[in-house]
Amino acid sequence: MKEQLKIVKKEFEALNITSLDELEKVRISYLGKKGKITELLSELKNVSKDSVKELGSLINELKREITEKLDNQKKQLEEEKLNSLLDSEKIDITLNGTFRKIGSPNPIEKVILELEEVFISLGFTVVEGPEVECDLYNFEMLNLPIGHPARDEQDTFYITDSMLLRSQTSPVQIRTMLANKDKTPIRVVCPGKTYRRDNDDASHSHQFTQMEGLLVDENISLAHLKGTMDLVVKRLFGNVESRFRPSFYPFTEPSVELDISCFRCGGKGCELCKNTGWITVAGAGMVHPNVLTGCGYDTTKYNGFAFGFGLDRLTMLKYGIGDIRVLYTNDLRTDEFSRRDN
Ligand code: DAH
Repeated sequence: MKEQLKIVKKEFEALNITSLDELEKVRISYLGKKGKITELLSELKNVSKDSVKELGSLINELKREITEKLDNQKKQLEEEKLNSLLDSEKIDITLNGTFRKIGSPNPIEKVILELEEVFISLGFTVVEGPEVECDLYNFEMLNLPIGHPARDEQDTFYITDSMLLRSQTSPVQIRTMLANKDKTPIRVVCPGKTYRRDNDDASHSHQFTQMEGLLVDENISLAHLKGTMDLVVKRLFGNVESRFRPSFYPFTEPSVELDISCFRCGGKGCELCKNTGWITVAGAGMVHPNVLTGCGYDTTKYNGFAFGFGLDRLTMLKYGIGDIRVLYTNDLRTDEFSRRDN
């Protein structure tokens, strides 16, 4: 039995354990229920009474030795494992981060948001309408019956005889009036894309963007329109003057063009304002009685004003962009811009 003990001890000491899995297997094969030490202990019952004590303590000593060594080795292996994990998962926080291309808003979008903010502060709400529109709303109910010469100015993409890509955001006026007959006053602005069959060049695009506005209430005058427009352009362009010039739109009477004094030269005349000192930014006017009546409004009680900003032009002026097509294509320098803007 002493021989057996020596063999087990030698065998154990010769082991070279390199992993925690291996260590667990060794532990079971020596200290487990059917392990070598356990077996030796159970063999004690066959040993003579005289030697039981001595052998028993020798086995227990070996058991303690093995347990201790395995415990120490386990600790060491666990530490090594942790260190190698720490090494392999190390993050070098001094390295440059990965720059994400997050892009930046289209300048038209920025102008829309700015205008919306001003109008919301004046009690307007923002509404939207469909880009595929019916002739009835895009023209007819805006006092532009079939054959009206003013239709020619808006060379339109027709889808069928009665459906088209809206050539202006004005049909949203009709939609809003029809949907809100009992909810005056109406105060809405509507930004959106519009389409005309234009030859694309630096100042024309088949797609462009407008912001429509409509107010319907009692006792509204041109002075309300002028005051509103003056406030809006001052918020947008700073300290500029505004003026109305007579104009013609079938859905307003009277109709005006809204000009602002040139924000670059202060009205003295420069390249931007083509030496006139003024820049046109919107069409506007008092809602034509035919439009109100057509939508079921009693014109002895209600009237209102409407306006339409051409946002492409406004954006180009504000940001000094010379070519409208730039607004509708990608700008590969957006990385640079996004760093600055966001
Ligand atoms: N819809 C007009 C256009 O596209 C712009 C416009 C002018 C809108 C006068 C209006 C308005 O609401 O009152 O040329």
